[in-house]
Amino acid sequence: MTEAIRHPPLIGADQEGDPHPRYARAREEGAVVKRSLPDGTPIWCVTRYSGALQALGHPDLSQRSEYAAEVFRASGRREPTLRRGILARNMLASDPPDHTRLRRMVSQAFTARRISGMRDQVQRFADELADGIAVHDETDLIASFAFPMPVMVICELLGVPFGDRDRLRRWSQLLTSFPVTDLERAEVEQAVADFGDYLGALISDRRRRPDDQLLSALIAAGDEIDGLADDELVAMAVLLVIAGHETTVGLIGNGLQALLRRPDQFARLRDDDTRLAPAIEEFLRLDGPVSPGIARFSKREVEIDGTTIPAGQFVFVMAPAANRDPARFEHPDDLDMTRGDGRHLAFGHGPHYCLGAPLARLEGEIAIGTLIRRFPRMRLAVPAESLRWRAKSVFRVLHELPVKLT
Ligand code: HEM
Repeated sequence: MTEAIRHPPLIGADQEGDPHPRYARAREEGAVVKRSLPDGTPIWCVTRYSGALQALGHPDLSQRSEYAAEVFRASGRREPTLRRGILARNMLASDPPDHTRLRRMVSQAFTARRISGMRDQVQRFADELADGIAVHDETDLIASFAFPMPVMVICELLGVPFGDRDRLRRWSQLLTSFPVTDLERAEVEQAVADFGDYLGALISDRRRRPDDQLLSALIAAGDEIDGLADDELVAMAVLLVIAGHETTVGLIGNGLQALLRRPDQFARLRDDDTRLAPAIEEFLRLDGPVSPGIARFSKREVEIDGTTIPAGQFVFVMAPAANRDPARFEHPDDLDMTRGDGRHLAFGHGPHYCLGAPLARLEGEIAIGTLIRRFPRMRLAVPAESLRWRAKSVFRVLHELPVKLT
């Protein structure tokens, strides 16, 4: 029997349904469990909250692209799209000091003020989409609402022309997929090239004619601090689009379905919208979109939660498993919007903690708040057990969320 068969795979068929029972089994098996990828490459899965905190803050667990490339080469596997070529120069694929420099620069432009200044615009987008579905008795809320809204927000944030948002949506979907066939791989390669060219042209244009959106602010911040190469800017813009799109679709969709499974909780939120902010944190804890988790690579031997992991290995932090760790959260499998403890790991932890978390929270609150207000009698149009999540995505995003509105 091979390692891969003895150890259940990291991403299983149940990824389309409910992977949490499998995550729970991994957590019960140990704080760090060794699995194998289908080709036999070992992968060390950190399953509990305490270990996840240690791993995500550990300086010897790297994100750096060149380093990761070596681990991928040694294992004969292909690197994920975001780590190859020009895209490897993004902050999520960097360690300090590059990471510190890139992150400082974005933080300077992507301020709390810029995000809170977007509130009215985000509300207008949500109203516009809700107006579009108001005439129907039944709708798929992923297609009609959760999927289009974050792209509208990203276009607005960066200053990407609105007419181009369908192209952006398609590129970001391709870049976060798992290509399997040669044809699919070629399609992803083409999308990387086209997306890069598109953003490169947009950046040149904004250099000549700056506007007051984030892309122009990034160009200005880069010039001011220590000069940012255009390819670093392209990689950063691509990262912002993909980090901010499907994840937010996942937050809205997963949050809504969790709520629709529990009409009593739906009613509580409908009757008291001050519960929205804690509800968003609870949706993220219970079923966050970054699932099965967050990858790292060991630069040298490290000890995590009592287990020694050798140098040069894949380490996988199972944030969704940690978010249901009974040692950290009481009755962890229940949706409890009164929990009042938002210290989940859905946005990560440590130096790479999600830079877009305040925007994601704003979008989640406005999206779910608007839908509940506009469609107070909303309910699932299919049995909850028949809901399916996309298997070929790196995020946990529903295919469809059919609801009845009246
Ligand atoms: C990083 C989750 C929305 C931009 C991360 C990480 C997680 C995460 C887990 C850390 C990854 C790691 O440590 O390897 C989420 C979730 C979102 C969301 C669950 C929605 C619910 C957004 C949005 C944006 C964004 C809306 C921006 C428009 C980023 C960036 C990073 C990041 C730039 C990299 C930070 C760094 O490397 O220092 N996100 N994210 N995210 N996220 Fe988000």
